[in-house]
Amino acid sequence: MRKIAIAGNWKMYKTQKEAKDFFTDFLPLVKDKLEKSSDRVLICAPFTDLSFLVSFTANAPDNLAIGAQNLHWSDSGAFTGEISAPMLVELGLKFVIVGHSERRQFFGDTDATVNQRLKAAQKHGITPILCVGETKQHREQNETESHIFSQLELGLDGVDQDNLIIAYEPIWAIGTGDTCATKEANRVIGLIRSQLQNPDVTIQYGGSVKPDNIDEIMAESQIDGVLVGGASLEPVSFARIINYTENYTEKL
Ligand code: PGA
Repeated sequence: MRKIAIAGNWKMYKTQKEAKDFFTDFLPLVKDKLEKSSDRVLICAPFTDLSFLVSFTANAPDNLAIGAQNLHWSDSGAFTGEISAPMLVELGLKFVIVGHSERRQFFGDTDATVNQRLKAAQKHGITPILCVGETKQHREQNETESHIFSQLELGLDGVDQDNLIIAYEPIWAIGTGDTCATKEANRVIGLIRSQLQNPDVTIQYGGSVKPDNIDEIMAESQIDGVLVGGASLEPVSFARIINYTENYTEKL
C-alpha cells in the first residue's frame, strides 16, 4: 500500500524562536487532519532547530514528524560542518532529505555521495527522502527521462526500497512559481515508479507547490504527496496544503 507523505523543507529559514512561533499557530490548524487521517506530515528543519522542535512537538499526533535536510555517510570523523546519522537518531529523528538539488548545485553532492548518504540513513533506521529532477536544459534537450533514470540507477544502488521516499523535483520549478503541469508531473512520477523494484515507494512532487495547486496535484494517480519549500514557511499556507481536498475533481 502506497502511503501519503506531505513534507515541508524549511531550507535555511527559521531560528528556534521563529520555529516556535510557527508551530504555535500551525498545530491547531492541522490537529483534526492529523488525528483523522493516516497521511504523514514532516517538517525538515535546520539542524539548530531539530532538538527544540522534537521536544516542542512531543505531544502532537504520531503522524507528525520532524526531519533533517542532510546527513553525512560516516558515523563520525574529521568532517567539519557535517552531521551524522547517529546524531540524528539521538534526537529521535526518523526522516532526512538526501540529494536536494540545492545540495547538488551549491555543495557538491553527486549521485555517488547521495548514494552513500542514503545508505547511512537506512543503516540507522532513518527513512531518507531522495530528491531527483531535471534542469530546464535537460528538459529542452529531451533528456528529462535519461537524466532522472541515471540519478535513480546510481543513487539507489544497494539502497533498500522498503524504507525510502522519493521526491520528483524539476529544478526549474523550485522556488520559481513555475509549477510543472500536474499531468506532466504525474507522467514523470509514473516513469520513476516503473524503474523501481518496489512499486509501493511513496513518490512526492516538489516545486512551487502552493495552496492553490495542491488539490489538483493530490488528485493525480501517481503522486503520493508533496515536498514544499516556500509555502511551508507560513502556518496558514502549509496547513492548507496538509488539509488538501480529497477526491478533488477538476472543474471544466
Ligand atoms: P519550493 O521548493 O516549494 O519553494 O519551490 C521546493 C523544494 O526545494 O523542495
